Amino acid sequence: METRIIRIEENIDLQLIAEAGALIKAGGLVAFPTETVYGLGGDALNAASSGKIYAAKGRPSDNPLIVHIADMKMLHRIVTEVPEAAYKLAERYWPGPLTMIFNKAECVPKETTGGLETVAVRMPSNKIAKALIEAAGGYIAAPSANLSGRPSPTAVKYVIEDLDGRVDMIIDGGEADIGLESTIIDLTGKEPMILRPGYVTEEMLKEAIGRVDTDRTILDGDYKQAPKAPGMKYRHYAPKGNLVLVEGTAAQVVSYINEQLTGHKSRGAKTGVIATDETVNDYHADSIKSVGKREDEEQIAKHLFRVLREFDDEEIQVIYAESFESRGVGEAIMNRLLKAAGHQVVHLSEFCP
Ligand code: TXA
Ligand code: MG
Repeated sequence: METRIIRIEENIDLQLIAEAGALIKAGGLVAFPTETVYGLGGDALNAASSGKIYAAKGRPSDNPLIVHIADMKMLHRIVTEVPEAAYKLAERYWPGPLTMIFNKAECVPKETTGGLETVAVRMPSNKIAKALIEAAGGYIAAPSANLSGRPSPTAVKYVIEDLDGRVDMIIDGGEADIGLESTIIDLTGKEPMILRPGYVTEEMLKEAIGRVDTDRTILDGDYKQAPKAPGMKYRHYAPKGNLVLVEGTAAQVVSYINEQLTGHKSRGAKTGVIATDETVNDYHADSIKSVGKREDEEQIAKHLFRVLREFDDEEIQVIYAESFESRGVGEAIMNRLLKAAGHQVVHLSEFCP
């Protein structure tokens, strides 16, 4: 398939958006920017479109898709009930990087929800995304626009790398602001439960609705139960090289990683380190990349997936990463890093770095 790649500037070209919307309405696929990561969009209410999304991504079809909407009115048609907590959360965090799970209405095909009776819904704040959803009829099912198992794309060049020839259109809308996928909260159980940490933190959710639980399976690699968000069980975000996370004080981490690097280098492996601005000059790997200042979680979140992709491009075989505090946005950062590392962590001290 020939993929049309278009660029949409700040001042949105409505003619182009109309063309992209028509493609989706006709059952086609369009990759588009959101504030979190790029999405791979199809008509959420068309079972065949969802089937095409799974095929284009190479994704297992038991892994449900998020339905993207552009305004609150559209929510009521696809869910059986909107709980009070959803109104409170929507008021504060929609449009934005928050996905809520509801009981689904009849019109949402099982193909979109991976066979579940629930549906995940998000209202993105990105202006191109909003215009496209409206032009496409109101409901776009979109997973992250990467091939299954690769880091989510935060820039269009990675979408092109993964999906050129597999979708009808790719919209270039610049770099994603946030860089990590949305927070997912399930509102169908007794207590609201976080299924995937993200930019909207646990504290922020609690501020809006009080009590919030977290699905513990998402942070603990040894947990025997399957996570409640089916997608969380797959080894996502995996770089091609072997990634190991190292926890300890800055001095411990630097000296441990350098020691390991010496061994790998002597065996001829190409090595990389995910560092911070504070330590970027302290390592002797083949490729050393800073994700930002250690206290600046937002920058770290924004750069993490790009760095993982760059190591792939450079064919790095062994990667060590510094670890971060699991608080606030740090929880989402550590969740993605732990998954990328397949939960390989070296603990050098009992204290947080
Ligand atoms: O920021 C985002 O959420 C991005 C952008 C494109 O909006 N989308 C995204 O989609 O990250 P995806 O498909 O890569 O991740 C969706 C996650 C998966 O882990 C999936 O299992 C979970 O959401 N999910 C979707 N529907 C669900 C449901 N009904 N119940 C439980 N988990 C669900
Ligand atoms: Mg994804």
